[in-house]
Amino acid sequence: MAPSVLPSSSPLLTSEANEKYANVKWEELGFSLIPTDYMYVSKCKQGEGFSEGEIVPYGDISISPCAGILNYGQGLFEGLKAYRTEDGRITLFRPDQNSLRMQTGADRLCMTSPSADQFVQAVKQTVLANKKWVPPPGKGALYIRPLLIGTGAVLGIASAPEYTFLIYVSPVGNYHTASSGLNLVVDHTYRRAHTGGTGGVKSCTNYSPVVKSLLEAKSSGFSDILFLDAATGTNIEEVSTCNIFIAKGNIVSTPPTSGTILPGITRKSICELARDIGYQVQERDVSVEELLEAEEVFCTGTAMVVKAVDTVTFHDKKIKYRTGEEALSTKLHSMLTNIQMGVVEDKKGWMVEI
Ligand code: COI
Repeated sequence: MAPSVLPSSSPLLTSEANEKYANVKWEELGFSLIPTDYMYVSKCKQGEGFSEGEIVPYGDISISPCAGILNYGQGLFEGLKAYRTEDGRITLFRPDQNSLRMQTGADRLCMTSPSADQFVQAVKQTVLANKKWVPPPGKGALYIRPLLIGTGAVLGIASAPEYTFLIYVSPVGNYHTASSGLNLVVDHTYRRAHTGGTGGVKSCTNYSPVVKSLLEAKSSGFSDILFLDAATGTNIEEVSTCNIFIAKGNIVSTPPTSGTILPGITRKSICELARDIGYQVQERDVSVEELLEAEEVFCTGTAMVVKAVDTVTFHDKKIKYRTGEEALSTKLHSMLTNIQMGVVEDKKGWMVEI
């Protein structure tokens, strides 16, 4: 199969492609799409199972204008990463967890989901087909984006008669490029999710409504937005693309995954790592007022990894937090990335070698 042609205008390209690596300026990776060679596609008719799936050249797809995803937003996405270790292995971080989350989301959006085995095998095949796009050790990761979308035509509101499970990949570096911590602003206007809605699954529809709020925050000089709960507007819930934690003394707290918060895989892993080093981790409602007392605030997510928050602005108050070498978030970031990069032994059984 012929590889897709990269846009030669991309500032991220070099002329130094070789057998092992694609022609990417690895030092300059951020979080924007670099098209790679191949993607995975499998289809399923309603009431049947998914086809075996194929690796095909990366490129545009053709779907009905009446597709469920286009008309009614019937779609889920996942995000996970593949890493290249110093000893030359390519590994995945907890892909089984993404497959489980896709199954939960598929149930909520009335779609058939690929089995856990098909999901993980498909991820492995896609990464292997694009192996030269996995960044060198320490230079980033290959971001893997599985989609499950209603591609069958559906005019009245219903579940689409056909679903497509598709995976594409892109090499990425940091989500937020500033080396300092994030400057968040609490959103007092918009809400991300409400009880009984889809905030607890990775529905495509959860994300574009966030953009307005994010743009407003960025235009005022903030790096990201912190949403409050829709019911009371008194508890912190989630940042635009990631989960949030606060730390004070020996206690680390994060909002519970009770339906309006995305059950982040990095979130869950960080809870475990923090407990391992003696912190008491509380998954509970966290009042926005607690931001005034917290010593540290940090965010977690696949794209974000673990990112310290430098300040949170809440009404007219700007609260500053501990960041840098002494911060818990720095410690947790290195604990996690050392496992992911194969720098320390993976005693948790989180990494899956391809
Ligand atoms: C991820 O961290 O994988 C996400 O889903 C964030 C994405 C919206 C960039």
